[in-house]
Amino acid sequence: MDHQRHPDLDAFLPEEGEYTLRPKRLGEYIGQEKIKARLEIALQAAQMRGEVLDHVLLFGPPGLGKTTLAHVLANEMGVSCKVIQAPALEKKGDLAAILTNLEEGEFLFIDEIHRLPAAIEELLYSAMEDRKLDILIGQGPSAQTLKVDLRPFTLVGATTRAGLISKPLHDRFGMVHRLDYYSRAELTVIADRSAKVLKIELAAEGGVAIARRSRGTPRICNRLLRRCRDYAEVKGQGIITSDIADACLKLHEVDDLGLDGLDRDYLEALCGKFKGGPVGVRTLAAALGEGDGGALEDLVEPYLMQIGFLDRTQQGRRATEAAYSYLGIKPSIGPLFK
Ligand code: ADE
Repeated sequence: MDHQRHPDLDAFLPEEGEYTLRPKRLGEYIGQEKIKARLEIALQAAQMRGEVLDHVLLFGPPGLGKTTLAHVLANEMGVSCKVIQAPALEKKGDLAAILTNLEEGEFLFIDEIHRLPAAIEELLYSAMEDRKLDILIGQGPSAQTLKVDLRPFTLVGATTRAGLISKPLHDRFGMVHRLDYYSRAELTVIADRSAKVLKIELAAEGGVAIARRSRGTPRICNRLLRRCRDYAEVKGQGIITSDIADACLKLHEVDDLGLDGLDRDYLEALCGKFKGGPVGVRTLAAALGEGDGGALEDLVEPYLMQIGFLDRTQQGRRATEAAYSYLGIKPSIGPLFK
């Protein structure tokens, strides 16, 4: 199937410039006001007591700034932040080596923490709770456990799937924050800020046009901004006006709601082939040639639910009436619309 894929399906690695776009201080971080207010108190309290920041779990859809926030917190505490992807940890020794090498107060950011193998996850429990590492030496009856003391550290875990975090792990985080999609106004400010950092000429209405189609997600906002810069340089005078943004996003098949080819294919399959559901995500993924459905669950469904096009029920995914009106088709007589 010829999909116009989401910009962030193809590359999970930050694009060039993304590091410079990242705010360094909490004051520069736009949006997520409640989370920032809670973190500000926690940061100040930790600093006043001369302690490390408590462990933090961040969850929410990809691209909302979980990694950015982890770096901001480390920076506010005046320490560095080591980053690892959970699937890259294969053996207990991998994590043990990282933990024993952390400097005093340092941050460890574990991305996709729901994908930690169980044995490695268990190693984290005592590390987080007692700053101790249980290392098993030898095998069989003569095996011995060695307790190694760790230096104080802060673990920041990030996940797109809060439901997949085990209770023992979840309970060891002192703070759990759910990042929400950003408003258009917040995304407009992010687009303006990024344009300034990257020295892009962005007209006010151009920023609004980009923000409107960013699916509530700063990473998408920054990607669209770069595509619009290219377009403005090649087809215009280098300034991103609303006309330039409209034309560029039309070329990229991003519609007024920010939905792209894959979103539309998803909705068309759900409303057409599967008559509005209920249908399982794996079945949908198979119909769309999208693997096991993980990418759909992370990147397509959360936003469709957010804008009221999709319901996730026990029986499976269901299209809403709004999804049918968006596609401009009438629902066939299904259980939902009888
Ligand atoms: N870049 C990505 N997320 C951001 C945010 N919340 N504030 C500012 N810049 C960002």
